[in-house]
Amino acid sequence: MQLQDMLYSQGFGIRRVCSGLVQQGWVELWNTETESWDVVLDSTLDIDPEGMSFKVQGVEWAYHALGYVLLHKPAGTECSQKPSAHPSIYSLLPPPLRLRPNKGAVQGVQAVGRLDQDTTGLLLLSDDGQFIHRMSSPKKHVSKVYRVTCKHPVDAKQVQSLLDGVVLDDDPKPVKAAACELIDTHVLDLTLTEGKYHQVKRMLAAVGNRVEGLHRSRMGGLELPTELAPGQWRWLYEADLALIRG
Ligand code: URA
Repeated sequence: MQLQDMLYSQGFGIRRVCSGLVQQGWVELWNTETESWDVVLDSTLDIDPEGMSFKVQGVEWAYHALGYVLLHKPAGTECSQKPSAHPSIYSLLPPPLRLRPNKGAVQGVQAVGRLDQDTTGLLLLSDDGQFIHRMSSPKKHVSKVYRVTCKHPVDAKQVQSLLDGVVLDDDPKPVKAAACELIDTHVLDLTLTEGKYHQVKRMLAAVGNRVEGLHRSRMGGLELPTELAPGQWRWLYEADLALIRG
């Protein structure tokens, strides 16, 4: 693969821009023999991108054929490219992640499902269409754990109703929590295997309570890393993806 094509695939702009970045001396490649960074000026240089590290304008990147990232979504952000009232989660990502091409079109990584504006926690994004489809499919049943802070004390009857199943207005089939653990008088950990619109808020409303705070802490076996502050993101690797799949 030519260096300019690799940069294009990683979201650094159209090939002409990528070629310009190289020709201006802004691209460095890690030389494994000398263990140092080499400025490369030939944008058509043939490279093997797998496992490759490179720098663009001093910032280090690793090559990812497909991008999988985890974002600690902060409150007050919308999971939409065109937000209506709050900043978009996409504004928290660096431009290359938003500009990765997909089948010739600039698409960037896309959120795997959505969290409400006021919900915080673990959000996956990817440019792997099959992965997004599989993860969002109702048949996939990836478990999601939500830490729910409620307005009123949660009693044993409410917990039992959430486990037995509650009817939401638009669907006669009851929806059940896969697990429901009381953490404190007003706090519970709710595990869901589906992802209906406002599901947690509607389930709590159906048992006569009200959600005051909502945080997604886990998807499958992948916990939100404690070192990732709200607004921060990191790449996901094969081991993380295996944890999510379970
Ligand atoms: N359920 C909700 O009600 N809101 C979310 O953001 C996620 C799950």
